[in-house]
Amino acid sequence: MSLLKSLLRGRPDGLRARLKRSIGGAQAPRAAGGSPGSSSGAAGWAGAPASGEKALHLSPEAPKDVTPPEGYEVVLHKDALKDGKIVEIIIGGTAIAVANADGCFHALANTCPHAGGPLGEGSLEGSSLTCPYHGWVFDVRTGACQTNPGFSVKRYEVVVEQDAVCVKL
Ligand code: FES
Repeated sequence: MSLLKSLLRGRPDGLRARLKRSIGGAQAPRAAGGSPGSSSGAAGWAGAPASGEKALHLSPEAPKDVTPPEGYEVVLHKDALKDGKIVEIIIGGTAIAVANADGCFHALANTCPHAGGPLGEGSLEGSSLTCPYHGWVFDVRTGACQTNPGFSVKRYEVVVEQDAVCVKL
């Protein structure tokens, strides 16, 4: 029953909850920060598109003075996501999971191919990301599912420009 509730409502600290809090004007649960820089203005933190809505708070803020390579968007400051951490970010209307695995940044589609679990709310150990819903494990370097090799999750190219983590949509 709690799994069904979790599937329908999302987790209390999940993306949907943060979006609701952001729209409602409440403080997001994660640390202070702001909206990331974006070449197109389309990128936004979960709950905080550049259109002026409230930001999901991560610190330090994404650099605003970095021009990302063609086709990339600045999604966060490289110091905002510590080694072994993963976060959900909405960029260009797409939810992605950005991970710092052993000092290397990786980006995957946020939706688990098993049953839609929010991968950005999963746990990261080395390069192995465990889905919070049923425990399927993915390699953040490739998107390949280690639990069921017939499955994978979309991977996005990532580069770090100065202090900015940039993702190619
Ligand atoms: S939704 Fe079932 S393992 Fe991810």
